[in-house]
Order: sequence, then C-alpha cells, then structure tokens
Amino acid sequence: MSDSSKPVDSSRRTAIGLTCAAGAVGGAAVAIPFVSSFAPSERAKAAGAPVEVDISTMQPGDLKRVEWRGKPVWVVRRTEEMLGTLEKTAPKVADPDSLRTAFPTPDYARNPHRSIKPEYLVVVGICLHLGCSPIEKFEAGGDPSLPDDWVGGFLCPCHGSTFDFAGRVYKNKPAPDNLEVPPHMYLSESKILVGDDSKA
Ligand code: FES
Repeated sequence: MSDSSKPVDSSRRTAIGLTCAAGAVGGAAVAIPFVSSFAPSERAKAAGAPVEVDISTMQPGDLKRVEWRGKPVWVVRRTEEMLGTLEKTAPKVADPDSLRTAFPTPDYARNPHRSIKPEYLVVVGICLHLGCSPIEKFEAGGDPSLPDDWVGGFLCPCHGSTFDFAGRVYKNKPAPDNLEVPPHMYLSESKILVGDDSKA
C-alpha cells in the first residue's frame, strides 16, 4: 500500500512565485497588501482542490489513502471475495440502499457496492458518530473485538461501529450513517479524481 496525492491546482506555487516577485520589485509596502488580498484565496482554493489518485499499481485488496479537504479518503480495490460479502451483509446493515440524506450518497454510488465501478470503493475514512477514523479489518472472523460471523470490513475503535466492504454501517451501532462517498470520477482507467464529479 502506498500513499500519493497530487493536487490538480498548481496555482498556489505560481501565486508564491508571483508574491516573491512583487516583493522583490516593488518593496514591502507594495507586497503586503498583495499578499493579504491574494494568498488566502489561493490557499483556500488549494485546500479545496480536487485530488488525483493513481490507482495503476493497486493490487486487489489494497487500500490507498489520500487527503482531500483535510479529510482522509480511502480507495479500496476490492477482491471478488470482498464484493461477494455484500449480499450477506445487506440484511445486517442499517441503510443497505444508501437512502439516508444527512450525507447523501451520489446517484452513481447508490447501488449495492456504493461505487462507480464495483472493484473500487471510494469513501471518506471518517466515522459519522464522533469523527474517529475506522481501521481495516479485512480478515474474516478470528478477532475478539468483532462478531464471530465477521466477514471483513472496517471497525471504528472509538465506540465499536462496524462497516462492511461498501462502507455501510451495521445496524444498532453508534454511527448514524454509512461512510460518506465523496464526489469523484474516473479520468482514465488508472486515475480517479476525488472532489469533482462534473463528468461522472
Ligand atoms: S466515533 Fe466511530 S463509533 Fe464513535
């Protein structure tokens, strides 16, 4: 598993370059108002910019983490076995069809696998109870912190919410909703853009 993210918007670097140039040419009196009026909006733009995720080297079963808007986003390349568990977990999860609206699931992920392509799950890795980040528990059974019939998924260690391989929360858990599916789309077979689904 490896992490990589590349903000699409490279204008921040340009802005820094322009700011330095303004300081060098016009002196501090010119540069200060320029910095205060220009830098914050550029920072904000970079912080909210979509993030490209290269999935070309991901193997079945891998989870890749990227950061988008200060939040962890996971891309999971699910195996056939992982996908096969979703039918079994559907009767046990609180909102199998992702109909809840607090964190609406985009239409293109409102399906049993909660994704555009079944193989790849893209979710925000934050539990919607109190904001902890769940951990991978991909192995079935054999873990005392999980039910005996555990088929694999995610566990939030804070108060025990559990999620299946589609990020759907199990019934009667503190988390009020499934893991959020962020807006995203495929730029190619090997690249996903997180934060923009205008062409999804
Ligand atoms: S924060 Fe996840 S169960 Fe409480």
